Amino acid sequence: MQLFTTIKTLQEALKNIALTQTIGFVPTMGALHEGHLSLVKNAKKTADKVIVSIFVNPTQFDKEEDLINYPSTFQKDITLLQKEACDFVFIPSAKEMYSDSIKAQEFDFDGLDKVMEGAHRKGHFNGVGTIVKRLFNIVQPDFAFFGEKDFQQLQIIKKLVEKEGLNVKIIPVPIYREKDGLAMSSRNARLTDVYRKEAPFIYQTLQKAKTIFGINNAVKTIEWVEAAFKKHPILELEYFSIANEATLLPIPTSSKKYTKEIKSNQKYRGFIAVFAGDIRLIDNTALY
Ligand code: PAF
Repeated sequence: MQLFTTIKTLQEALKNIALTQTIGFVPTMGALHEGHLSLVKNAKKTADKVIVSIFVNPTQFDKEEDLINYPSTFQKDITLLQKEACDFVFIPSAKEMYSDSIKAQEFDFDGLDKVMEGAHRKGHFNGVGTIVKRLFNIVQPDFAFFGEKDFQQLQIIKKLVEKEGLNVKIIPVPIYREKDGLAMSSRNARLTDVYRKEAPFIYQTLQKAKTIFGINNAVKTIEWVEAAFKKHPILELEYFSIANEATLLPIPTSSKKYTKEIKSNQKYRGFIAVFAGDIRLIDNTALY
């Protein structure tokens, strides 16, 4: 496995490879876990060569304390990537990625960034779009792999590729879960034992919401989820939304009637954000 810290040396190495082989790309912010490794495994199956980037992108953090507290497990990350037989790792500095101006570009994502995570984390998706576009331009991958845990991010990256005319195929990878159902996240390592024990309640609630949505309307389902969290002693619901998978627009809840036709014509997902103490966890599941 080869490590690169500059764009110039990385591009030198990729130049000849790109002539005859396909390149699969997994962008990360480090603190790698099984979820990231499942992206690498998928990339290994799809492309001839796999490159992983590790860069904690400052412009996608809406709170400075989150950037400061972002876990860094560099040596462990490298060992894990070596075990997966990853071919290249790109670990640039902020200066390499942003020169002297650490600022996000403003994108028009056709409203995909105005709801859920975008509404709760101002500027987050402009930061993600900026760095992913820059990384795609540097790496020029044939395929790029994104986890469905950040489903909204995945849809926004697809929109970025479409709008910017980028020549890369985006491959979604299913959510990788702990045995008890908790979606893998770098933030899980920061949960205290008490919160870690309770955190699977998030996925359990999503699964019950799916059952309820199968026989009820969206309003009833949302009310049920909100009531379930009100009763929970320590987890705090930030939002639960039922949204169209493609547009991310919330299901119309004005009609109280059983929305069977709406549900059968379109694919809806349940999206959730929960505070476990100071740690914010997100998850989602298909409701069809
Ligand atoms: O999902 C992430 O880890 C980040 O948002 C990404 C895509 C690596 C961009 O910094």
